[in-house]
Amino acid sequence: MLVSAAEMLKKAKAGHYAVGQFNINNLEWTKSVLLTAEELKSPVILGVSEGAGKYMTGFKTVAAMVKAMDEELGITVPVALHLDHGSYEGCYKCIKAGFTSIMFDGSHYPIEENVAKTKELVAVAHNLGLSIEAEVGSIGGEEDGVVGAGECADPDECKAIADLGVDMLAAGIGNIHGKYPANWAGLSFETLDAVQSKTGDMPLVLHGGTGIPEDMIKKAISLGVAKINVNTECQLSFQEATRKYIEEGKDLEGKGFDPRKLLAPGAEAIKATVKEKMELFGSIGKA
Ligand code: 13P
Repeated sequence: MLVSAAEMLKKAKAGHYAVGQFNINNLEWTKSVLLTAEELKSPVILGVSEGAGKYMTGFKTVAAMVKAMDEELGITVPVALHLDHGSYEGCYKCIKAGFTSIMFDGSHYPIEENVAKTKELVAVAHNLGLSIEAEVGSIGGEEDGVVGAGECADPDECKAIADLGVDMLAAGIGNIHGKYPANWAGLSFETLDAVQSKTGDMPLVLHGGTGIPEDMIKKAISLGVAKINVNTECQLSFQEATRKYIEEGKDLEGKGFDPRKLLAPGAEAIKATVKEKMELFGSIGKA
């Protein structure tokens, strides 16, 4: 069922586990994530970046596909369709298209402007029953053209944004989109601790879930992280399995060129990655 992310994240924060946001790119991605969530009875968030939305021909196409697929696969677990790192305009487009959740990433604006725009979007989203995520302190690295320097969030600014009534807050704590460099300093638990003490019950969001060591994920959850975003890791699993299929010459055997066969190992690999993450995040059986 497509729902806002508010309820599932409140439960996760109270229950000391995290719900995974898995970014989708196409039909296969969406199907793999939905089937895994249903099999494991886990709530799930489908993340759509503005770039992925464009690739899939627009947010209306994405919303229509996800809604129909959720119904036709008979999915019973809560599923939120969420805009990832949305611009101000992108948020309005997704609201119109029928998304159930949005992220307004105003982290690159001066804090006053981030507050003003987030406040406006909180009112609009809540009026229509959508959940909304905001961001303070940018996430490092690059995702679909959104580039961040990766500075740690100021806990007082986090409180100012949390007080606007957002449903989840992404605070930069040294996390990076994509693969982590060998000399990465790790997550700043000091920042996370300070943010959680200022924001109380607010479900915190950890972006850049790919490649964060298990012990750091567990510690982040214990310090109030209730949503973890994963994108690159599913892409890498898909790529590795597809490469293997072709390198083994399977596409040359019989009807191995059939796209339903060619894309099947990649789709299975995504399922395995999503399962692994749901186990680590503790969301299995929480639907
Ligand atoms: P990764 O690509 O590093 O997993 O990050 C995903 C993310 O944070 C989406 O917003």
